Amino acid sequence: MSTDPTPRPHATAEEVAAARHDRKLANVLYHDWEAASYDDKWSISYDERCITYAADRFRHAVDDHGGDDRWPYGRALELGCGTGFFLLNLMQAGLTARGSVTDLSPGMVAAALRNAENLGLDVDGRVADAEQIPYDDATFDVVVGHAVLHHIPDLDRAFREVLRVLKPGGRFVFAGEPTRLGDRYARLLGGLTWKATTAVTRLPALRGWRRPQTELDESSRAAALEAVVDVHTFDPAELEALARAAGAADVRVVTEELTAAMLGWPVRTFEAAVPPDKLGFGWAMFAYRSWLRLSWLDEHVLARVVPRAWFYNALITGTRPA
Ligand SMILES: C[S@@+](CC[C@H](N)C(=O)[O-])C[C@H]1O[C@@H](n2cnc3c(N)ncnc32)[C@H](O)[C@@H]1O
Repeated sequence: MSTDPTPRPHATAEEVAAARHDRKLANVLYHDWEAASYDDKWSISYDERCITYAADRFRHAVDDHGGDDRWPYGRALELGCGTGFFLLNLMQAGLTARGSVTDLSPGMVAAALRNAENLGLDVDGRVADAEQIPYDDATFDVVVGHAVLHHIPDLDRAFREVLRVLKPGGRFVFAGEPTRLGDRYARLLGGLTWKATTAVTRLPALRGWRRPQTELDESSRAAALEAVVDVHTFDPAELEALARAAGAADVRVVTEELTAAMLGWPVRTFEAAVPPDKLGFGWAMFAYRSWLRLSWLDEHVLARVVPRAWFYNALITGTRPA
């Protein structure tokens, strides 16, 4: 596979049709397509808000609320880095001083390297498949990923590769993976929100709230690819078993976000269905503060009484046996 991080142009309708039968090609097309607007779409930033969010995910996974685990780690690798959201923010939080970002999508690797350069971080990048990591055995002290496992067809192979490139005793942390049940209610609520918003904005009085048809068509093409790039959803116990079978030790899956996800998915879908200039700073603050309140409720109340499989996000950690 090429290691040249040159982005591809937008996908054509023919490429989209071909990618329906090839999950990896679909991932490259879809994420190359998304790379330029990805940070805006997912409200990704490289300031205190996302630094805290990324560090909290890592610590939640390793159950390290005191914050001392083994920070700072030595060399770190990210799989499926996207624009660099997870590792670059973890580096800013002090996880490590030296990072390597990898992704199947050249457009994403280029975006992550640009972000790293703007932040003044020591990061190198390669276009790489997580099932075939282009680094030597025992290179890294920590391997991380966010929202990537559910895109990888052969997870057994990917976990074996992670363990191979980790030093003995090294740790992996993957966060932001959809649970089986969480994915069902998120898709249902998102789908209903999309239908309701696009129907209501056909009314003459609400025409100004309707996105141009070309943009709605592009969203539909993106949704068709999205259905191909999302390969897995996870039952927490099955995910633990998968990592153990690949040879990992100290494996643990925790989950988070129940009511926060039930709010978050309709909000994100609504934001995608209307013109961006209709929703100002007030809306963004309302959505963010509501999400924070519901996340608190999920973490401090519901996590004590609701089974872990019901929450939307799964986080997994484990180590390479020493
Ligand atoms: C949902 S995005 C998440 C990006 C980023 N980690 C984040 O949280 O913002 C998933 C990323 O995984 C990448 N990806 C998909 N399949 C992959 C594979 N087999 N190997 C490496 N990366 C992959 C995609 O190209 C995409 O950039």
